[in-house]
Amino acid sequence: MHAHINGIQLVYEDRGLGTPIVLIHGFPFRGAMWQPQVAGLVEQYRVIVPDLRGFGDSEVPPGTYTMDVFADDIAGLLDELGIEQAIIGGLSMGGYIAFAFLRRYAERVRGLVLADTRALPDTEEGRAGREVNVRLVESNGPGALADKVLPNLLAPAAPMELHAQVRGFIEQTQPQGIIGALRGMAQRPDSSDLLPTITVPTLVVVGSDDILSPPEEMRTLHNATPGSRFVVIPGAGHLAPLEQPDAFNAALHDFLAPLKD
Ligand code: MLT
Repeated sequence: MHAHINGIQLVYEDRGLGTPIVLIHGFPFRGAMWQPQVAGLVEQYRVIVPDLRGFGDSEVPPGTYTMDVFADDIAGLLDELGIEQAIIGGLSMGGYIAFAFLRRYAERVRGLVLADTRALPDTEEGRAGREVNVRLVESNGPGALADKVLPNLLAPAAPMELHAQVRGFIEQTQPQGIIGALRGMAQRPDSSDLLPTITVPTLVVVGSDDILSPPEEMRTLHNATPGSRFVVIPGAGHLAPLEQPDAFNAALHDFLAPLKD
């Protein structure tokens, strides 16, 4: 499905009935990374999965995609679908966007799922690294970025098919989309101050082998978030929902059950 949101064409999935949950993909992927969760939740929930601007089949406008811009797109999509409140879930960059959404649209958040993400902003070194990756993609294309980042995304025992699938997500993304999001992530604010103010039910979930948003850092995020639940998914890296879908879906179901309409 597609909709005209904030001046661009966004592609999304909207499946099932019941309490709405929005799943926001990470960088540089697409909504299809949540396919195992759509399959696992659709019988009991309304699952909304956008391709963010610049990614998947959505339009790839020029410019920097700040987390606020992405959050406004999610709010616009909810308006389009007539949804006042939803559970907002995000993986990694999707989590940064969930924080931005919470800052801007707190009254629309019924619950939060923060998967393999970080509350801290980029360090100065991290921001410089983003520009290195911008130049890498400009000169050598998304495949070169895939070569660089893939070794850090998946747990050591991840099967080759999963490597191929994730490489496909990255290689199918247009350079402008990658660059827009890299520059947007570099600008994101520190969300640490937001955590103690969170009053909605929150699931903090991370792969045991995630080296980009490590379990210790996510435990700190959980400790700072009142009433949150913390789950470590064994045998998963940074892409826990894709790597260990059964365990991830079980954690989601446990968390979501009390929020059912
Ligand atoms: C992601 O998976 O979205 C990225 O690791 C986020 C980032 O580069 O900070």
